[in-house]
Amino acid sequence: MSTADTTSRSPRRILVAYAGRAGATAEIAEWLGERLRHQAEPFEVTVAEASDDLDPTGYDAVVLGSALYEGHWLRPARHFARRHRHDLADVWVWTFSSGPLDDSATTREITVTHSAERASHRLGARDHLTFGGRLAPDAQGWLAHTMVESGHGGDFRDRDQIDGYADQIGGELSVLPRRHRHRAA
Ligand SMILES: Cc1cc2nc3c(=O)[nH]c(=O)nc-3n(C[C@H](O)[C@H](O)[C@H](O)COP(=O)(O)O)c2cc1C
Repeated sequence: MSTADTTSRSPRRILVAYAGRAGATAEIAEWLGERLRHQAEPFEVTVAEASDDLDPTGYDAVVLGSALYEGHWLRPARHFARRHRHDLADVWVWTFSSGPLDDSATTREITVTHSAERASHRLGARDHLTFGGRLAPDAQGWLAHTMVESGHGGDFRDRDQIDGYADQIGGELSVLPRRHRHRAA
């Protein structure tokens, strides 16, 4: 059997990589991963923090997301996009942000922040979506605590919106051609 035959039958591998500080984005990444594992096509999904050690080699698709802090994606996600822009040239990419502490992410069109736009552009992402964020009542840090005190706390993540994005990604990926040739095991 040729390598090409083996490759075309193996499940496609998806990496969901995220950067966050207080757990909300990590959980969104887990939810995306969980939903992607239950698509009609049996994808093999890994969810991992976008650290310096994270190697995206061998994946057919990458979903990269970050929490928004003061209008920006967090550094690990920005660095991941910059560091791996060449590695991911033949990989399908989608991106997401987690941020707004109100229902704006589900009720209106959110302007993509500059850093999310830049990272998405770098990776040739097929789409980007902003999800609502979460600020827990016991959030750490002076600014976060002040935001909670002034009534900005709460969980604004919408599971249906997150599942919908996973379904969109899964649906698109299942009809997109394989671009990545796995290395022999
Ligand atoms: C200090 C601080 C600054 C924030 N800045 C923004 C921002 O500029 N834009 C935004 O949409 N959300 C902002 N948020 C909301 C966070 O992005 C949101 O809480 C997010 O879900 C946190 O994700 P994490 O738990 O993974 O860190 C901010 C939150 C804090 C505490």
